[in-house]
Amino acid sequence: MDSLAVKSNLVLILDFGSQYTHLITRRIRSLSVFSLCLSGTSSLKAITDLNPRVIILSGGPHSVHSPKAPCFPDGFVEYVESNGVFVLGICYGLQLIVQKLGGEVKIGEKQEYGRMEIEVERSSGLYGSKSIGDSQIVWMSHGDEAVKLPIGFEIVARSRQGSVAAVQNPERRFYGLQYHPEVTHSPQGMETLKNFLFDVCGVSADWKMEDILEEEIKIINNMVGPEDHVICALSGGVDSTVAATLVHKAIGDRLHCIFVDNGLLRYKERERVMGTFESDLHLPVTCYDSTEKFLTELKGVVDPEAKRKIIGKEFINTFDEFAKELEKKLGTKPTYLVQGTLYPDVIESCPPPGSGRNHSHTIKSHHNVGGLPKDMKLKLIEPLKLLFKDEVRALGKILNVPEPFLKRHPFPGPGLAVRVLGDVTEGNALETLRHVDEIFIESIKEAGIYDSIWQAFAVFLPIRSVGVQGDQRTHSHVVALRAVTSQDGMTADWYNFEHKFLDDVSRKICNSVRGVNRVVLDITSKPPSTIEWE
Ligand code: XMP
Repeated sequence: MDSLAVKSNLVLILDFGSQYTHLITRRIRSLSVFSLCLSGTSSLKAITDLNPRVIILSGGPHSVHSPKAPCFPDGFVEYVESNGVFVLGICYGLQLIVQKLGGEVKIGEKQEYGRMEIEVERSSGLYGSKSIGDSQIVWMSHGDEAVKLPIGFEIVARSRQGSVAAVQNPERRFYGLQYHPEVTHSPQGMETLKNFLFDVCGVSADWKMEDILEEEIKIINNMVGPEDHVICALSGGVDSTVAATLVHKAIGDRLHCIFVDNGLLRYKERERVMGTFESDLHLPVTCYDSTEKFLTELKGVVDPEAKRKIIGKEFINTFDEFAKELEKKLGTKPTYLVQGTLYPDVIESCPPPGSGRNHSHTIKSHHNVGGLPKDMKLKLIEPLKLLFKDEVRALGKILNVPEPFLKRHPFPGPGLAVRVLGDVTEGNALETLRHVDEIFIESIKEAGIYDSIWQAFAVFLPIRSVGVQGDQRTHSHVVALRAVTSQDGMTADWYNFEHKFLDDVSRKICNSVRGVNRVVLDITSKPPSTIEWE
């Protein structure tokens, strides 16, 4: 792990598979406290190497009675006690503490799910100035319950149904919450987390984006030698742009970026992103117009996966060409490659025990644009690998990446090839789609709803429908509009536009885009659909 992680103020989350684990990490970071997440069954060395000040044991779907119940490693309790580390167990985490320290957890008679009222029973640092008898609503999700606490532990709060809701042993620095303080359904949960971190554990709120920037620049300068050259493929997305801007700040023009126009970009995309790269960010970028090559290879191809493979391969060929030209120009091979990998990608590639999730590399492989030629043997620079998307945006802001650029909706690597259903080279499909998409997106921006939508785009359908335009019978194309809300793209819901908006957009499209006489709206969530149509 980089030096960035090794902080005396670190809050380490041990993940036992709760769907809220990432949220805890994010919530703590939002308090300007650095937080990282490791699998709950990590080795003791992996934990101690990070030198955490606080460890949070997450919730999880297991029962501590299950033979496969995941647990922290042997020696964990001795380590935290002898190093003054504070421990907070949440849900399953609380039950692990209770069971492993000599108490008793039973299969709950009355399982508690959803909103519950709890009442403070004893004054505790967890609840700050709250008095005994004060109540609050929290989000519970558990079957088992602690029925006997380990010696020295005391109950701090109980649910209305009488079960244990919060426990503590201040002397041994162990605390536990049977509910999820990190979710918004626990309205006072953040206050409890703050009380715990700042008042109980004495953590200081000193994790700032400016420090991350400085630290990352130091790391890059230590890694990249004065004669080394670095390459970066810019996609036009937020992550690669912020990563490249950061590396450029560290090593200047020994960074060489490539942007490929594959003929599958949105309306005026190349001009727009190159404008930002060159005029706003002063990045050294070579733009390759590979439209003809990509479209020639895609001619007649209708299978979406075949399209992705062809596009991936063509990207590799283009990068190869770029690297060779660069080597000729510089007289030396580039040594490093910048990638905009984010923290969720890192966490997802090592899912928690018993989560039922596989190594997610296979899920994501089609989402990576081909990768780079293997024989390039480049070492990786991944300056964003400990950050979440919103943190990357904050970093981008400090690096003067223009705000509208930072808020752009995601765009898939294979571009419009997966939004023109069927053969992308047929007729005027790409040009038609570009115009429809532009009208849709501009209307969304004008309506002031762009930032409330995860992703919006148009899809070109390879069918014709009958229409009547200006007293003429037409037999023209159908386009679909898709807009979704989502947290991470893994699940999504369709965006509920106002009828007037839809009416205006549909009218505008049919009136101004030749060859389109019908507009339909996609009203499916993911699952069962995916966000893209192909
Ligand atoms: P799906 O369609 O799988 O999309 O629900 C989830 C998110 O991933 C994007 N996506 C891709 N991104 N290469 C990419 O770089 C791809 O092949 C690809 N397919 C989907 C999609 O736009 C959405 O944000």
